[in-house]
Amino acid sequence: MDYEATLTQAREKIEACPDASALKEVERHYLGRKGAIADLLGSIGELPPDERKAVGQGANRLKQAIQQIVDARASVLDAESLEAERASGGFDPTLPPARLPTGSLHPITQVTRELEDLFLSMGYSVLDGPEVELDYYNFEALNVPKDHPARDSHDTFFCDPEGRLVLRTHTSPVQVRAMERLDPPFRVIASGRCFRQETTDASHDHTFYQMEGMVVARDISVGHLIGAMRTLLRGIFGRNLEVRLRPGYFPFVEPGFELDARCPFCESGCSVCKKTTWVELLPCGLVHPNVLRAGGIDPEEWSGFAFGLGLSRLVMLRYGIDDVRHLLGGDLRFLEQF
Ligand code: PHE
Repeated sequence: MDYEATLTQAREKIEACPDASALKEVERHYLGRKGAIADLLGSIGELPPDERKAVGQGANRLKQAIQQIVDARASVLDAESLEAERASGGFDPTLPPARLPTGSLHPITQVTRELEDLFLSMGYSVLDGPEVELDYYNFEALNVPKDHPARDSHDTFFCDPEGRLVLRTHTSPVQVRAMERLDPPFRVIASGRCFRQETTDASHDHTFYQMEGMVVARDISVGHLIGAMRTLLRGIFGRNLEVRLRPGYFPFVEPGFELDARCPFCESGCSVCKKTTWVELLPCGLVHPNVLRAGGIDPEEWSGFAFGLGLSRLVMLRYGIDDVRHLLGGDLRFLEQF
């Protein structure tokens, strides 16, 4: 093989390459696994022994020389294509780099924080309670003794065979913990996850969020309760909404109510309010004397109200989310919208 001639020919071909893919092609032709040089090196074995060394060295030098020309051409082509992109306006080196993806607060966290701010501004304290709760706090101290029929509606996850520990089915146990720790008068809220053994569907999940509120003071009446709930609604929806109370039964309040608000989305009926113009918002009531007593508070001297806001439901209402399972589904396409 005439090394000089081969090199000259290769140089001509390489320098004539108009773009990177043509260059790849030429490179493969000479330097590839089945290229010209590989052929040459592969045939060395057939040569007489005294010629092998010289041919091998020549081939390797040729290979290096061609590689250098290829590399030089590649950087020229690179610079050219960058220049072309810049000239066409498609590439601007002064632009800031693409933004790194960042996370955002979960809508439930956002609404929780917003409501906590609202309640803090009204003089409430923010409390916390355990998710794995004693049956005593979750039921017993809330006037729901063993075998009470109200337990049936709280499809409970039990944590031990004796049923002493449960996953809390609501945030109400924090009421009792608050009474044990604080001297009246006090106002508290506590929010967090609750669990019920539900068959999941668009409006039920086994894990959901509530925000509990409790006020204990002297001579608390239903009027105080309604007033506080009106303020709450104004904070959530940004305007005054008409409210109404319907009787509701919960063993730990007496009287107990379901509080409805005028549908924030329509005036004459829509899918959210199911054409009734009212949306069911939260259960509430005046604290049952037995519950005050269980918390070490004298019901002759003190009274109170409590409410249990369904945070998951509220977030769904607020953002028009049609399936509660989105909230804990972990699907980024959902979460990235907040
Ligand atoms: N804890 C109740 C529930 O989840 C709701 C509630 C709270 C009712 C406070 C009245 C007062 O079912």
